[in-house]
Amino acid sequence: MMDMLFQTFRLGRYDLPHRIVMAPLTRSRARQPGNIPSPMNACYYAQRASAAFIITEATQVSMQGQGYAWTPGIHSRDQVEGWRLVTEGVHKAGGLIFLQLWHVGRISHPALQPDGMLPVAPSAVQPKGMAFIENERGEGELVPFLAPRALQTEEIPYIVQQYVRGAKKALEAGFDGIEVHAANGYLLDQFLCSSTNQRADDYGGSVENRMRLLNQVVEALAGIWGPDRMGVRLSPMGTFNDIEDHDPERTFDLVASALNEYGLAYLHLVNPDVPALERGTEPHPRALRMLDTIHKQFRGPLIIAGGFDHETAESWLQLGRADLIAFGRKFLANPDLPERFCQHARLNADDPATYYGGGAIGYIDYPTLAQERGEEPRIQIDERWR
Ligand SMILES: Cc1cc2nc3c(=O)[nH]c(=O)nc-3n(C[C@H](O)[C@H](O)[C@H](O)COP(=O)(O)O)c2cc1C
Repeated sequence: MMDMLFQTFRLGRYDLPHRIVMAPLTRSRARQPGNIPSPMNACYYAQRASAAFIITEATQVSMQGQGYAWTPGIHSRDQVEGWRLVTEGVHKAGGLIFLQLWHVGRISHPALQPDGMLPVAPSAVQPKGMAFIENERGEGELVPFLAPRALQTEEIPYIVQQYVRGAKKALEAGFDGIEVHAANGYLLDQFLCSSTNQRADDYGGSVENRMRLLNQVVEALAGIWGPDRMGVRLSPMGTFNDIEDHDPERTFDLVASALNEYGLAYLHLVNPDVPALERGTEPHPRALRMLDTIHKQFRGPLIIAGGFDHETAESWLQLGRADLIAFGRKFLANPDLPERFCQHARLNADDPATYYGGGAIGYIDYPTLAQERGEEPRIQIDERWR
């Protein structure tokens, strides 16, 4: 029987040739000043155009939405021009690319904020951990997070506006779709989860209130893009960025049910138990129940990411736990990942030392199978990026 991974799939408006998605990966390599996508970034994405579709690295919708040094934005004209190089490169190579829209909320630092202001969040709850900023010498540096400033109720429409502006600019830049980043402890997740949302207004308290901002953002963006060209990413039971919900089963049950109403192209979940998959064991029963609950509520296509290899991805598709699988670190290190899976070929190992910041090394120099055989790369690499 043919692998399910290599069966075609209809995703919203698009026909996909297989089910191997490129997961969003922050690489902190936007051109400076201005956090502008560069020709080198376009090369990186074009090299990976054989994905069923690409989800870009998280991209801040505003200066306030930035949380790490050198991440790209989608709020200035230059950034739109930079992204246009990326989308053209991917389209020329035959691929599809969705932009992941991002506001980090409290996961930031005054060094990254306009006028050195405090980052904003649903409540003034300080995250444990460190922010990644650029120091005076132009190097990356880790500094402790501070307590953020709680948003006033009157400011929240302005947050929705930031997403709206980003989504409009994404259309101008030639993307095929957008993904709303509501996972991994960033702003929308901070509103969803009880440990970070202690508000007493219409945006806090009940789950209905905590998901109000996400619903407002999704509704506004669906009006711009059409729901069949957009997805939402969630990380149910996730703890990354010092976040926790006191009743994730109930919270994400209701969130998935609300999102089901929009007719989205997909829902994208971060696997709640990555370590189990990486150990080669079944996920924790609670994680499986969580996924099952969401699957029952959300009837559209489901993407799952986190810890998969060829075999586990195939088995999860066979078991009906997901419709598509997104690969992060494996796609980072293997620009031709679908081809390698198809041929059961050896994979390049990823190098965590070159995940964030730097240039071409560990970015656009991972070889394809064809290059390993001595063939010329299909996507030409400009010598100036080396
Ligand atoms: C270097 C790196 C950067 C990441 N950046 C993002 C990001 O920008 N947005 C996001 O939603 N997830 C991000 N993630 C999480 C990945 O999308 C993915 O969920 C995670 O790597 C697990 O999948 P994997 O086991 O296939 O790598 C990142 C992960 C890594 C390793």
